[in-house]
Amino acid sequence: MIAQFNPPQRLLLGPGPSMVPQSVLDAMGLPLLGHLDPLFVGLMEEVKGMLRTVFQTTNPMTFPVSGTGSAGMEFCFVNLIEPGDEVVIGINGVFGGRMAEVAERCGATVIRVEAEWGRIIEPEQIAQALRGRSPKLVAVVHAETSTGVLTPVQEIAQIAHNAGALMLIDTVTSLGGVPVCIDEWGIDAAYSGTQKCLSCPPGLAPVTLSSRAMEVATNRRTKVQSWYLDVNLLNGYWGSDRAYHHTAPISMNYALHEALRLTLEEGLESRWLRHQENHLLLAAKLEEMEMTLTAQAGHRLPQLNSVAVPAGYDDAEIRRRLLNDFNIEIGAGLGPLKGKTMRIGLMGESSSAENVGRLVGALKAILPA
Ligand SMILES: Cc1ncc(COP(=O)(O)O)c(C=O)c1O
Repeated sequence: MIAQFNPPQRLLLGPGPSMVPQSVLDAMGLPLLGHLDPLFVGLMEEVKGMLRTVFQTTNPMTFPVSGTGSAGMEFCFVNLIEPGDEVVIGINGVFGGRMAEVAERCGATVIRVEAEWGRIIEPEQIAQALRGRSPKLVAVVHAETSTGVLTPVQEIAQIAHNAGALMLIDTVTSLGGVPVCIDEWGIDAAYSGTQKCLSCPPGLAPVTLSSRAMEVATNRRTKVQSWYLDVNLLNGYWGSDRAYHHTAPISMNYALHEALRLTLEEGLESRWLRHQENHLLLAAKLEEMEMTLTAQAGHRLPQLNSVAVPAGYDDAEIRRRLLNDFNIEIGAGLGPLKGKTMRIGLMGESSSAENVGRLVGALKAILPA
């Protein structure tokens, strides 16, 4: 007989998922409704409205794609890109690389604008790549979770629009943790995930498309290659028709509803401030321990702190001891940063002075020197 699964209570201070408030977990245990039940349809409307507030947009096409953040990424590319389209993509970590991979699978010609991992994509780099070109789309990761860097996407959006391109951003780690101002910044398409600064389990990918992006998606030469992610079909489900397309993950939508409700109850500005304050607290404590943050100064994410592995220590051993002896999860460095950095997430519910204190206490016990 297989025993019922009974996980321990970990403190999640990695790159996501983050800690989830009890009321969000409880929402997942509420009675199921049919996915076309008028009460569920009412919840869908509230989720869309709250997502518009969190994304700071009036875009009607704002809803959670069923799937994780990567499904949101695919949703944006498959709907906006047709074979042969030119796309400029900023790559300064894992997720810019993933965008290029997804765009290539859509048949795009990808122009890669690369920066060292841990540094931003400079607007000037995009401006240079656009000289003499008019690509269909420019895409950049706003908050690069693999390195802890926040790229200034507003300036890049301006440059993209001047070249006649649509602007797409990845807000998986930024949404709810730092300002994301879709309309003010002129962003045409954005996707996110639920498991980072919104503090909901993973499973949905909030997306938003501007009217320009919708025009592109609805006036294509070719069919969208993914039936599941075709916005023209999804619009029939999440829009006013309410025609069956797929069965929305009911319990995940309950959870997102509660997570968004709590986010807005706290207030976006207070939430961003809380993330910043706890980042500064962590940074000060790490400095006392002579541990250094590795992301480019002035562009550090408050919700994802990339820390150099102290000389003479094995990062896998530090992470193993944090997990086994203290029930605390942090993340490893990725790609060229593997073995060199560790990633401390202070996302959403995880971002508190108490959690910073718990982690620092554990690190002091593990790194007595
Ligand atoms: C910046 C960024 N983009 C995309 C993704 C992919 O999201 P998911 O793992 O939910 O599919 C992640 C996940 O960590 C991410 O951090």
